[in-house]
Amino acid sequence: GDVAVLVPAAGSGVRLGPGAPKALRLLGGEPLLVHAVRRVAAAPSVRVIVVAAPAAEVEAVRELLAAVAPVIVVAGGAERQDSVAAALAVVPADVAIVLVHDAARALTPPELVESVAAAVRGGHPAVIPALPVVDTIKEVGTGETVLGTVDRSVLRSVQTPQGFRHDVLAAAHRACLDAHTDDAGMVEKAGVPVVCVPGSELALKITRPLDLIIAEALLHVP
Ligand code: C5P
Repeated sequence: GDVAVLVPAAGSGVRLGPGAPKALRLLGGEPLLVHAVRRVAAAPSVRVIVVAAPAAEVEAVRELLAAVAPVIVVAGGAERQDSVAAALAVVPADVAIVLVHDAARALTPPELVESVAAAVRGGHPAVIPALPVVDTIKEVGTGETVLGTVDRSVLRSVQTPQGFRHDVLAAAHRACLDAHTDDAGMVEKAGVPVVCVPGSELALKITRPLDLIIAEALLHVP
């Protein structure tokens, strides 16, 4: 394998309601992080998996994942971007491709990991899985007044894992001073072309209580 996958899992998950850190919430009796790591580890290209855990849970996460796959566990940071940087710092220099995932996308199939990695290997420096937007999107101003309707055909809903040439992601992190909600955002800012490949409905981000119910149902889809 020529791929490292970073799995930021240090978020608190406030939008999911009170309870354990999000990555440790149970889905079908197992933590989201276990589901995510198991599927990543099943992708043949993956050589290294680095998990960024909540600082207080590093040892517990190491024990939890020991039976799932060989992983490196580091302490995450205050923002997702800090957790990604902490995980990126321990990736061996000879790994050519780095994918950045979300523990919250627990049902992401190994095939999506492979297709993103393959597109990077094929020559794209930055690759993101994306789906068409289903809702009509409005831009609003003060008082929720609609300013206009955005042309939906040019919009994409973006998922993870996002894949990068190792040097491209490392350079973007070194250069980055402001906040980004995804890793490709940082790379775009650096002027690197980013290309979309088809995403997967199974890669949904488990964020709100309804998402857990949907994920629970998807677990039982054959
Ligand atoms: O908060 P958000 O939904 O964007 O989180 C996406 C992923 O980033 C989750 O897997 C979460 O655990 C992780 N995260 C992190 N460190 C943070 C915040 C979020 O690893 N400080």
